[in-house]
Amino acid sequence: MIYLDNSATTKMDPEVLEAMLPYLQEEFGNPSSIHQLGRRARVAVENAREEIAHLIGAHPSEVIFTSGGTEANNAVVKSCCFESDLVDRVVCSSIEHPSVLRPVETAGRLGKDVATIPVDSQGFVRLDAIEQWNDRRTLISVMHANNEIGTIQPVEKIRALCSDALLHTDAVQSLGKIPFRVDHLGIDFATFSAHKLHGPKGIGALYVRRGIPFKAHQEGGSQERNRRAGTEAVALIVGFQVAVRKAITELEHRQRRMAQLRDLLRALLAEKVPGVVFHTPVENALPNILHIGFEDGDRLDGDALLLALDMQGIAVSSGSACSAGTVQVSHVMKALGKSGPAAKAVIRFSLSKDTTEEEIRATVETLAAIVEEMRMAQHV
Ligand SMILES: Cc1ncc(COP(=O)(O)O)c(C=O)c1O
Repeated sequence: MIYLDNSATTKMDPEVLEAMLPYLQEEFGNPSSIHQLGRRARVAVENAREEIAHLIGAHPSEVIFTSGGTEANNAVVKSCCFESDLVDRVVCSSIEHPSVLRPVETAGRLGKDVATIPVDSQGFVRLDAIEQWNDRRTLISVMHANNEIGTIQPVEKIRALCSDALLHTDAVQSLGKIPFRVDHLGIDFATFSAHKLHGPKGIGALYVRRGIPFKAHQEGGSQERNRRAGTEAVALIVGFQVAVRKAITELEHRQRRMAQLRDLLRALLAEKVPGVVFHTPVENALPNILHIGFEDGDRLDGDALLLALDMQGIAVSSGSACSAGTVQVSHVMKALGKSGPAAKAVIRFSLSKDTTEEEIRATVETLAAIVEEMRMAQHV
C-alpha cells in the first residue's frame, strides 16, 4: 500500500511503541497514587511534560495534556468564553479546523461577539483584516498550518499586529513539519496532537501561557493542576514525548526530504496529468501537503477518483465531505473563493518521513491512467 494520507493520521513509530509498552504492562500505576508504582507513573508523565515543553519553547507548567487536538481547540474557546469571562469577542480564520469553528459558533449563539478573518485566494489570512481585532478582551484563533491545503499562516505578524489580544494557534499540522516554538511566535495558546507525528492516537496537548487564567473544561479531578480532570494516559503521554522528540530532533532532515518529494510530485503531476490545478501555494506551505483539483473537475467524480486510487493500493483523501451522494465543496475551498470545477474533484496528498520517490512516481502514473480512463469513459 502507498499511504499518502498522513495529514489524517500517521503510522506509529516503532520506537514510540517500544517506549509505551512498559506503561501498558508492568508500569501500570496511576500517577495520582502514593505508592511506588504510582510515583513511577508520575515521574514518567512529568518527564514527558518537561521534555515536550522544552522542545516547544515553553515551561512545563504551561503544558496541559489532552485527548488530542480537538479537545485542546475546544478547551481554548470554551475556557476563554464560557468557563471564565475572559473575552467578549472571538475571532477566527475562515479555514480553521471544525474543532475551532464549531465552539466559536457556539460562543456566538451564547452571546459573544464572533467574527471571521477572511483568507486570500491562496489561503493566507488577510493581515489587513486583522488589526481591527487588537483588543484585550478578544481571542484570535488562527491555525499555524492548514490541514487541507498546507498554507502556513503568518502567526508572528498577527502577534505583532495584535499585541493586546489573546492569540491561539492550532499547530496540529505544523509541529514536527516546520520549526515551531511558542516563545518565537509569542502566542498565548497552542494546540498539538500526537497521531499526526507518528505518535499514538488519543493524546495531545494544549499550551497555555503562564499568567493566563485558564478554567478547566473538564472537572472532577485535580489532575493537570486542576485544568483538565481525568487520570493521565501515561503510556500515550510517553509515546507522545518520544514522537515529539524524534520529530523535532530530525526536523531539518525530514522537512528537506518531504519537500523534495512534494516538489517532485508537483512536477510529475504537471507533466503527466493534463488539466491539473494546484491549490497548495509554492511558497509558505508545509513540506508534506499537496492539494490538487482538475480544470474539468465538474465532470470527474471526486469520490470515484479516491476509490479508484484505493483499489490500486493508494490511500489519499479529499478535503470535501460527501453527504447524501453529493460531493460538497469544502469550507476551505469556499473560503479561497474556489467553487468552480477545480474545487469539485480534489485530492490531498500528504507525505510523511517514510514516503519514497518510488511511491511518488507510482502514484502519479496510476492517477494519470485513472483520470485518462474517466475522461475517455465520458466521451463514449
Ligand atoms: C488542523 C487540525 N486541528 C485539529 C485536529 C484534530 O486533532 P485530533 O485528531 O487529535 O483530535 C486535526 C486533525 O485532523 C487537524 O488537522
